[in-house]
Amino acid sequence: MSRLVIEGGVPISGEIVVQGAKNAVLPILAATVLSDEECVIKNCPKLRDVDKTDLVLEGLGCKVRREGDTVIVNPTSICGCSISEGLMREMRSSIIFLGAIVARCSEAVVSMPGGCPIGLRPIDLHLKALRDLGVEIIEEHGYIYCRTAEIRGNDIHLDFPSVGATENIMLAAARGKGITTIINAAREPEIVNLECFLNAMGAKISGAGTGVIYIEGVERLHGAEFMIMPDRIVAATYLAASAITGGEMCLKSVEPKDMVAILKALENMGVEFDIGKNEIIQHINRPLRNIPILRTMPYPGFPTDIQSPFMALCTLASGTSVFIETIFENRFQHVDELVRMGADIKVDGRSAVIRGVPKLQGANVVARELRGGAALVVAALAAEGITTISGTEYIDRGYENIEKYLLACNAKIERRC
Ligand code: EPZ
Repeated sequence: MSRLVIEGGVPISGEIVVQGAKNAVLPILAATVLSDEECVIKNCPKLRDVDKTDLVLEGLGCKVRREGDTVIVNPTSICGCSISEGLMREMRSSIIFLGAIVARCSEAVVSMPGGCPIGLRPIDLHLKALRDLGVEIIEEHGYIYCRTAEIRGNDIHLDFPSVGATENIMLAAARGKGITTIINAAREPEIVNLECFLNAMGAKISGAGTGVIYIEGVERLHGAEFMIMPDRIVAATYLAASAITGGEMCLKSVEPKDMVAILKALENMGVEFDIGKNEIIQHINRPLRNIPILRTMPYPGFPTDIQSPFMALCTLASGTSVFIETIFENRFQHVDELVRMGADIKVDGRSAVIRGVPKLQGANVVARELRGGAALVVAALAAEGITTISGTEYIDRGYENIEKYLLACNAKIERRC
């Protein structure tokens, strides 16, 4: 397994063209299963999770090839309806294929996705919604067996605005009979991107980005060529890396309108911005201020995925910050490692109290999940001395070639095997 070795203390300044969004490309690749023709997906980031999703598609009998940052999927030879237990365990977000597979094949067999380091990750909302759409589901021996004569439109009220459950319903109902309404739908920008892709394939979906999504089922979906949206979480991570080191960062190919809560939090810390159409220029002219209270919430609230990198940022801010993680029950695993670097953080349940310290020291630290690993990179870039981060396989799930992007912004970083 490789490690990242970082010598901190250098302002992270430069220009980054932000990669395509992992959490948009995964459901959109799943949606290609619904098409009768080839789909061309552009701006696909080179990530472990995208590679795994390609394997899921190939396991279903689709032909998949990558040409640079474009992935071409030909689903015409689809012949399977199951996802291997190994792949489901390696990437639990493969559950997003369930709605698409059962809509295309009238049946699907997947193993329970199980939890992950940040939480139990139940799928009860997914399964309840699919049953409401006319899918017969049997759960036994750790597997989920689905079958249906036809997907029938229905009104579905989600108890929680689950991103994955919203996406699974959209994928299942796009080619179903009749009208499906999702009430209390997730409003994330990635949901809007999925609606845009499905409509480019001939679906009739509206309302994504609001709490109510309408889906009028259609007979068939044709191929489409589509550009994945920029990754707002990766963009925010690089802003945090530049802010904590007192650098100047220019992000290209971003959607500032998708990052309002993130930019507001940075502004409250004393960061300044020039905002362009698809560009954010960030500069720091004063010491960072604390965030008195930061509560993670479903979109458009502050995203849980950027909680840990922003906690790293707050370790060096003046004053005390209180973070409340309302989405996942175990998303503070980066705290121990930040404390090892000299941070002053106390955790009590879903709350963390971060008292700013004058400096962090380099140390040997371990990434235990994707965004917690990103937080360690942010902290290491500002720490005095050398930090070695192991567990880079987690970071590589969501950050395309992180050392390449940071090296281009003056970071002293290298990957060692
Ligand atoms: C998506 O996960 C993202 N993953 C996550 O990003 C992100 O943190 C999360 O949405 C919230 O924004 C992808 O898009 C691949 P949820 P998802 O269903 O769909 C509970 C990253 O770092 N819940 O909105 O799994 C669940 O326990 C990843 O890129 C149920 O109770 O998130 C959690 O508390 C991490 N029952 C909350 O909802 C269900 O059936 C949010 O889950 C489903 C979810």
